[in-house]
Amino acid sequence: MSEDRGGGELRTGALLALPGAGQQRVDVGAMCQFDELGAEVLLERPPRASRPRRELVAGVIGDVSDRDRRHACILLALAAERNPPARRRTRHTVGVDRAPADFYTGLVADLYAPLRSEVPDPEPYARFVERSGQPALELGCGDGDPILDLRERGLDVEGVDSSADMLDRCRVAAAARGLDVVLHHQPMEDLDTGRRYRSIYLAGPTFCLLPDDATAGRALERIAAHLEPGGTVLVPIFEPGPSPPAVLGVAREHVADDGALLRFTPLREARDDRARTQVTDVRYERIGPDGAAEVDDRSWLLHWYPQPVAVALAEAAGLTVASIRSPFGGAAAPDDTTFVLLLTLPG
Ligand SMILES: C[S@@+](CC[C@H](N)C(=O)[O-])C[C@H]1O[C@@H](n2cnc3c(N)ncnc32)[C@H](O)[C@@H]1O
Repeated sequence: MSEDRGGGELRTGALLALPGAGQQRVDVGAMCQFDELGAEVLLERPPRASRPRRELVAGVIGDVSDRDRRHACILLALAAERNPPARRRTRHTVGVDRAPADFYTGLVADLYAPLRSEVPDPEPYARFVERSGQPALELGCGDGDPILDLRERGLDVEGVDSSADMLDRCRVAAAARGLDVVLHHQPMEDLDTGRRYRSIYLAGPTFCLLPDDATAGRALERIAAHLEPGGTVLVPIFEPGPSPPAVLGVAREHVADDGALLRFTPLREARDDRARTQVTDVRYERIGPDGAAEVDDRSWLLHWYPQPVAVALAEAAGLTVASIRSPFGGAAAPDDTTFVLLLTLPG
């Protein structure tokens, strides 16, 4: 690939080093063009195709560095080669410039509910709020699970999320159920709702979406600043296992009411055990009944905490560890990597 500013050529047979994906050979030539505003990839069909043609496979990539744009173009070209367009296939956006807190936006927010693997059981969170007190705050409430179930039970719970798109969906769902709910659009690491709570919780391991210990420490400080003295925080933590190779490239699908095919595919994964992060490149697709496709490629980052690291971060934020529980009941074993932290603010 030539490295000239403004464009480059991906030649058939060229060997490319891709961050997080090792070395890959380009099987099909592609032209990549980029400018101040974005980039597009023109994909040359393989020579065996009866009528070689060029096809636009990428849309605007956004305000990112030239290096990131080139990387994005290469990934797009390889992705397009692996999934040749059987039907009309349109635009890709690549999340190379996206903060982890902005992952659940756009097409991802639209497809989150129909494609998710499980829905959180509201019961343990309702019990937690009833025991620890109200008002309560759900962090990462997304499009409404389980906060709306708790509101339906009459519990005084507000929600926080970094994604305006997820909160819009939550408002629509609340209105459909005839529920009032107070929602705050902000990242938990900059939490500032203007009031204090008896209970703060995350429903599921959303804390592992914070990209590093420093951000997690800031989030815990902001949580402590929003707790009433004697109030309690519930933080589920898990360490993801590496995805088995057989899972990569395999799509989870759902057919929507309007006949659109919705698809989620994990493509490749990079794990860094020292930084305790795992980044999975994933693809979200919506293919309409007329064959028109929307495609969005994102990088999904998870960051985890062994128990001593989680305890040190909580204590540095002024919180006291009340208990470390196993999600399956009872106290967690010291080396459990899936656990629930219960933290209190001294009274
Ligand atoms: C896995 S979804 C869970 C949504 C919902 N609780 C559910 O289970 O359906 C994680 C949610 O956390 C939000 N989120 C991610 N990072 C965040 C952050 N730093 N601060 C606040 N919310 C965040 C996302 O926007 C998303 O809505």
